[in-house]
Amino acid sequence: MAIPEEIINEIKYKNDIETAVSPYVSLKRRGKNLVGLCPFHGEKTPSFTIYPENGSFYCFGCGVGGDVFTFTKLIESLDYIEAVKLLAERSGISIPESGYDDSYSKLKDNIYEINRETAKFFHEYLMSPDGKWALDYLKGRGLSLSTIKHFGLGAAPNSWDSLINHLKSKGFSISDMLAANVIGKSQRGTYYDRFRNRVMFPIINIRGKVIAFSGRAMPDDDKAGAKYVNTADTPVYKKSENLFGMNFAKNSCDERIILVEGNMDVISLHQAGFTNTVAALGTSFTNEQANIISRYTKEIVLMLDADAAGQKAVKRAGEILKNTGLEVRVVVVPDGKDPDEYIKKNGKERFDALLNGAVSEIEYKLLTAVSGIDTDSDDGKVQYLSRAAQIIAESNDIITRDLYIGKMSEKYGISRTAFNAKVEEIRKKKAKANRKKEINNIIHPKFDNSDVNPERRKYPSAVVAEETVISVLLSHPDFFEQTYEKLKPEDMITAFNSRIYSLVCNCINEGNNPELSYFGESLNTAEFSFLTSLFNSESGRKNSLTVLNDSIKVILDEKTRIKMLDSANLSNDDWAKCMNDLIENKKRG
Ligand code: UTP
Ligand code: MN
Repeated sequence: MAIPEEIINEIKYKNDIETAVSPYVSLKRRGKNLVGLCPFHGEKTPSFTIYPENGSFYCFGCGVGGDVFTFTKLIESLDYIEAVKLLAERSGISIPESGYDDSYSKLKDNIYEINRETAKFFHEYLMSPDGKWALDYLKGRGLSLSTIKHFGLGAAPNSWDSLINHLKSKGFSISDMLAANVIGKSQRGTYYDRFRNRVMFPIINIRGKVIAFSGRAMPDDDKAGAKYVNTADTPVYKKSENLFGMNFAKNSCDERIILVEGNMDVISLHQAGFTNTVAALGTSFTNEQANIISRYTKEIVLMLDADAAGQKAVKRAGEILKNTGLEVRVVVVPDGKDPDEYIKKNGKERFDALLNGAVSEIEYKLLTAVSGIDTDSDDGKVQYLSRAAQIIAESNDIITRDLYIGKMSEKYGISRTAFNAKVEEIRKKKAKANRKKEINNIIHPKFDNSDVNPERRKYPSAVVAEETVISVLLSHPDFFEQTYEKLKPEDMITAFNSRIYSLVCNCINEGNNPELSYFGESLNTAEFSFLTSLFNSESGRKNSLTVLNDSIKVILDEKTRIKMLDSANLSNDDWAKCMNDLIENKKRG
């Protein structure tokens, strides 16, 4: 059962797309539309377009699009029903409980409940006499009682079933506990607590809900296995889309966000007042995480461990952050320590100084590129300087480039003109390669339409005609009857367009004005994005009727042509029918 149509429309009416998008994207007016930098992929020139006219958005860079529900769903990582609910809440509309099939959102609600109850269970255990071992451990690591409470830390007893029993007593089902990933199932078919004999860190999303856990083993526990055990992805948690500490950092990151590696680093730094610290959750830093950060701040400081892995992570993160528009700075924590150890040993003032000495990413790269090269020898100097030229060429800011070209040529006693020429040469080559890539991106966008319509390449002209028919009908439902008379859904060449066409026909035939939200539940995100592009296509706006009829003719001709190609396999009767069709089409056209 779906949410009643009238309610969807009312919610949509009260949440216009411009207002819904503007907290996340800064929009500029362009004609009757608005444009901005796409929040769903990295870009430097705006291709994310808002169409207030029909309440939709579409990104020409990555091909994502839809209505206000799609936008909310994607930007808040919700499912469709949750997005509808959130927008309903924002505009004070209530949805009747019986109005829709909510088994999946019920499951999610149950998981949130289980997580909340589990966090409480772990916390109470930590504070109880039995949890003294864990409290001692956390205090031993320098955490105050108020920090422990602030982060809702806890401990899991050294037992295989105490959490299960507790959750059972609260009425939760085994299957929901499994879905929450707080328990596991053994090969013998028995159930067990996943977290045992560990201090527990609840992971809390930006809306304040417990979505997952991370548990650290005790140092003396040799049966523990991994140092950290984390919740796997569940219906309420995707580790690649969350950051530990973001629930607090989002309120204090006006200037910058500090990205560290570990949970303990986050907690220690928050305790010392650096409440703008977050950590990627035991994964390498992802695009989604970069996008979240770029929504809250302008600058990111990468403060990763000084070990080889940490330095590799800096490189990777730098790549990912390139297109977010975030200013990237890097701090290498001295003496091979992590930020937690450093601040404990040296105090907050020294830490602050370290933070303020954060070098730009380019400076950092220049510093690390020298390792393994003997710059006292001529060969070494040449080798290092050509690496350096590559690094400097990456900067798109002429003043930055000029600054480092000056520094390097002075430091290594080479001609500034020559070094400058080298950097510019690299940039020219890069620009050429980039143009190629850009063109390629336009031809094959990331949400490639051939994903939604796998037959696109096989029937290029028919596909364009099919899409034209659909987009004309979307803006001129009054042409429906004459179109349908000539062209039935099964006449469309490609199966995907045939399906879309049939949805559109049904919609109009039932007396509805075709609106995006009508299709929200029949299509997946990529398909819906594609339909949005048809809604906003210019092709059908002018000379619509001529364009429409030409397109119908192209489709029908193509259909006949395909049949003719198959003619070797046709019986005489079919052949005659085929020829007849061809003649009929000619007459109609
Ligand atoms: P570290 O090994 O650097 O641990 O892992 P740490 O943060 O310094 O922890 P302490 O100070 O020893 O307690 C960094 C991060 O990598 C993830 C965790 O999120 C950890 O905070 N990790 C590490 C795992 O997910 N699993 C592991 O087994 C180890
Ligand atoms: Mn550590």
